[in-house]
Amino acid sequence: MRVTIADIRQMKEKKEKIPMLTAYDYVTAKMVDEAGAPLILVGDSLGMVILGYESTIPVTMDDMIHHTKAVRRGANSALVVGDMPFMTYHTNMSDSLHNAARFIQEGGAQAVKLEGGEVVAETVSRLVGCGIPVMGHIGLTPQSIHQLGGFKVRGKGLGEARKLLNDARILEEAGAFAIVLECTPAPLSRLITERLGIPTIGIGAGPDCDGQVQVISALLGLYTEFVPKHAKQYARLAGEIEAAVSSYMAEVKTGGFPTAEQSYTMDESIIKQLESEG
Ligand code: KIV
Repeated sequence: MRVTIADIRQMKEKKEKIPMLTAYDYVTAKMVDEAGAPLILVGDSLGMVILGYESTIPVTMDDMIHHTKAVRRGANSALVVGDMPFMTYHTNMSDSLHNAARFIQEGGAQAVKLEGGEVVAETVSRLVGCGIPVMGHIGLTPQSIHQLGGFKVRGKGLGEARKLLNDARILEEAGAFAIVLECTPAPLSRLITERLGIPTIGIGAGPDCDGQVQVISALLGLYTEFVPKHAKQYARLAGEIEAAVSSYMAEVKTGGFPTAEQSYTMDESIIKQLESEG
């Protein structure tokens, strides 16, 4: 049975923490799903950790749909959330609905995520009205990085903290089923979490959110170009992969790979026959 938005809501009610992870491909999604994560986000962070861009801004709808399809094929139980990329839900309502629908219809996701508070409330409400579950995302919103002036903690001052609290309330009223809080001070995240009926999912937002989300490539130590303060490496796979690749290359060069174990056999008489024919 696939996890539903009602299940996610109940987790908050039962005070059961909600672990969410990103995934961008079939194999990783399968492992995350089999480990029991209730939520998988196909994040537009794929721009950096998979496609090698400097930010999420160049990511397109087609990129996202391609990866969402792969994740969906690997995830049999988790609720898959597709992250709407830069400017795909701002130009007009018709485009926003069309793009969100692509995630559900083509990508096979069960929900979409979009960045912003009050400014996207009408879009959230329309999407929810059309039957598309929406996850909000406030605090540090990487698609607005040029406007925000960098990857910084949001909501430390009274004015911005008040705005974030208000944005969270407005998103809940608009029908969002959960809200990501990214890089918000822990006491503010706690207050927002207490004030909302829907779950908050934190990334760099302290321990009191209802759930946590991490970028899988950072958690596994695969993407090491930029490791934010809030990321914890539970493995260091980049080092292990480099060691494996070096061993392979050394064995190819010295003749240690392949051996008989990795080779196929055939009837010796056939080779003898071919050799005798010249
Ligand atoms: O794209 C992403 O991975 C995200 C998470 C950081 C929440 O939006």
